[in-house]
Amino acid sequence: MNEVSGKLETSQLANVPEHVAIIMDGNGRWAKERGLPRLKGHEEGAQSVRAVLRAAKKAQVNYLTLYAFSTENWVRPEEEVQGLMNLLSIFMDRYKNDLLKNKIRLRVMGQIERLPQKVQKKLAKLMEETARDYEYTLILALSYGSRLEIAEAAKAIARKAAAGELDPEAVTEETVAQHLYLPDVPDPELMIRTSGELRLSNFLLWQLSYAELYVTDTYWPDFREEQFFQALEAFNQRGRRYGGVKNK
Ligand code: FPP
Repeated sequence: MNEVSGKLETSQLANVPEHVAIIMDGNGRWAKERGLPRLKGHEEGAQSVRAVLRAAKKAQVNYLTLYAFSTENWVRPEEEVQGLMNLLSIFMDRYKNDLLKNKIRLRVMGQIERLPQKVQKKLAKLMEETARDYEYTLILALSYGSRLEIAEAAKAIARKAAAGELDPEAVTEETVAQHLYLPDVPDPELMIRTSGELRLSNFLLWQLSYAELYVTDTYWPDFREEQFFQALEAFNQRGRRYGGVKNK
């Protein structure tokens, strides 16, 4: 087994996942350990977003999905929710040129209509601007919940069936997949979760069916390029079988 250094040239990786999804956890604990307000942890976490975005491009990961705000996160104190929305806004202003220069397209998934109007407008504008010329895709899961996404897909399918547009007997896994938020995006092959929790937390339950899971104790604000490459190395050392015969 190769040494997991995180310092390797990414060109050494035989198998780079096309899509990596990340649960960015531990911002609050990072801040608490330093006697700082939770928002400071989120601010530092936004720096990790930038670092990982660059690292993903370097490694030629085409799609990166980040769990930035869950449907459950709305119950956090008003001040923290507002702080996170502000951070998102600042992130878009500050990294707009980064996204354009690096040919990274922004997309979103979730209940976007629940976000503050100003944030929605900014997202829409940036999505449009970055869609013109791109090689990589950053997907932000915002007010996202996977069960809700699947329920919405079921509702859309049921509506079509009721309208006689679709035969219920013809509904397959593919039909469901085609009614999720971003049907054209390939499923993630790797899901990273920071800060040690061994849970999926209602994140991409359908799409992660065959993904390799990688959990690190590192808090998200400390998760940068080196840690991202370590995750890619670990992914390379796994034998992926998809329920079939071992392929290596
Ligand atoms: C989890 O840490 C993190 C979040 C709920 C939000 C993630 C947000 C960012 C990284 C900042 C900005 C993002 C973008 C895209 C600009 P936690 O608060 O649950 O940490 P804890 O479990 O230690 O309390």
